[in-house]
Amino acid sequence: MTPIVEVNDLRKRFGKEVTALDGVDLAIPADGVFALLGPNGAGKTTLIRVLATLLKPDSGSARVAGIDVAADPEAVRAKIGLAGQYAAVDDYLTGAENLEMVGRLYGLTAREAKRRSSEILDLFGLADAASRYAKTYSGGMRRRLDLAASLVGRPALLILDEPTTGIDPANRREVWNLVERLVADGTTVLLTTQYLEEADRLADRIAVIDHGRIISEGTSDELKQRTGPAVIELDLPEADRDAAAAALGLDQVASGDLVLPAPDGYADLRAALTALDTKGLHPTGVNLRKPTLDDVFLELTDHRPAAVRAES
Ligand SMILES: Nc1ncnc2c1ncn2[C@@H]1O[C@H](COP(=O)(O)OP(=O)(O)OP(=O)(O)O)[C@@H](O)[C@H]1O
Ligand SMILES: [Mg+2]
Repeated sequence: MTPIVEVNDLRKRFGKEVTALDGVDLAIPADGVFALLGPNGAGKTTLIRVLATLLKPDSGSARVAGIDVAADPEAVRAKIGLAGQYAAVDDYLTGAENLEMVGRLYGLTAREAKRRSSEILDLFGLADAASRYAKTYSGGMRRRLDLAASLVGRPALLILDEPTTGIDPANRREVWNLVERLVADGTTVLLTTQYLEEADRLADRIAVIDHGRIISEGTSDELKQRTGPAVIELDLPEADRDAAAAALGLDQVASGDLVLPAPDGYADLRAALTALDTKGLHPTGVNLRKPTLDDVFLELTDHRPAAVRAES
């Protein structure tokens, strides 16, 4: 199957200081959900904007549905739906009018736009609020309306930039359900997220991006396997944490539990407990477990103590 998105050595700088995209290569299969996972400032929105033809890269190429974004931006725009990081709805139109307006922009007749609008409002559970001004909508409803607008044109590729940032857990789950329903209907979704849980739950494939580079790509299971077979998680009283980190050869301690890789499983656990015991340190909780996507992400994006990375 030809990928729906193909990106080759894409580069983008802002001024002299900021390298937002530092040679991105990516191929996104034409089905399911693909997640671009990365911390603040990683380059997610920049990449999305290039794919959506809203921003010109300095070099490299990007194709969407086989069409080069630089050569034929209009044809690319006809293939995609985009919901940005911040919901773009018109407060002084009703929910229905917002969608009808988008439909007209896509060249639908007034009657077609009305029909499409009510169809999508239904799908998004907004039928009851259709004739209310968008400014009376809750944050979660605005998010849904914005998502709804990105589907009016029946895109081959739906691009969602942090679809659940800043919304409460109940609405987050609702957005997840919606995405799953759209995918079941045959839409390919590219979403960016800072939430591992979201990528883990929704995505068939995940690319981790940091400092404008893709640092790992694969299924959630593949990414987890790359961290090694197991990690140890130790819970210690707050007062003992620094001493414990030192005893285990960790530079510094992030808040919460100590996590360290355990390539040799139980043997590593025993060694860690012995090291703590000789210092008179006693964990209140001990866990030998498979790595989560959280562990993978922290390790890959350099946000863990150097000693831990060196051991892994
Ligand atoms: N228009 C711009 N002018 C200057 N710098 C920019 C511009 N847009 C983005 N940047 C910078 O480029 C880098 C990548 O930004 P980008 O918005 O792509 O990150 P992101 O991964 O979407 O982050 P977030 O999770 O915070 O949305 C950042 O350092 C950002 O400050
Ligand atoms: Mg962003």
